[in-house]
Amino acid sequence: MADIIILIGFMGSGKSSVGKVLAGKLGYKLIDSDKYIEQQEGKSINDIFKECGEAGFRNMETAFLKNLSTANEDIILSTGGGMPCHNNNAALLKEIGFSVYLSASPSVIYERVKHDTGRPLLMVDDKLGKITSLLSEREKYYNESADKVIETDELSVDEIADEIIRLLKGEAN
Ligand code: S3P
Repeated sequence: MADIIILIGFMGSGKSSVGKVLAGKLGYKLIDSDKYIEQQEGKSINDIFKECGEAGFRNMETAFLKNLSTANEDIILSTGGGMPCHNNNAALLKEIGFSVYLSASPSVIYERVKHDTGRPLLMVDDKLGKITSLLSEREKYYNESADKVIETDELSVDEIADEIIRLLKGEAN
């Protein structure tokens, strides 16, 4: 059976960068759900939200996950930050693979995303306030979906990837 390692966590928690490094270290294929959906739709995430609404985007995420459950190769999946919190995705994620929650604090997330314009949910005046409230709403979903949690505030991308490899080998808790 294919090995699927899933990175979950808030926007700016490092899922894409860690995914790239981890895929390189393990020789797995990297799939980034946002990029996949953008390619399928031929539109940016911003345009998908504008044209189909958030609900439309969430349905695309669920369809993507259902499709992935039939994968027959080893994959690192970097998810969009809201994926585990909508539809029945948390249960689907549990079925598909081994999930690692990259936990980060609101201030660290804010520093990483403050100049970003590609995340429609953060196009608000009070970005830090939005990050803080959305993260607190979502934390239960992340924790429920996760097989393991890594606190990432003090770690580099490389250190996080190595910690995940240790977790997979059963060398870390
Ligand atoms: C979202 C996170 C984004 C993207 C979309 C919605 C969210 O992905 O899926 O803008 O709801 O948290 P990243 O976590 O890769 O930024």
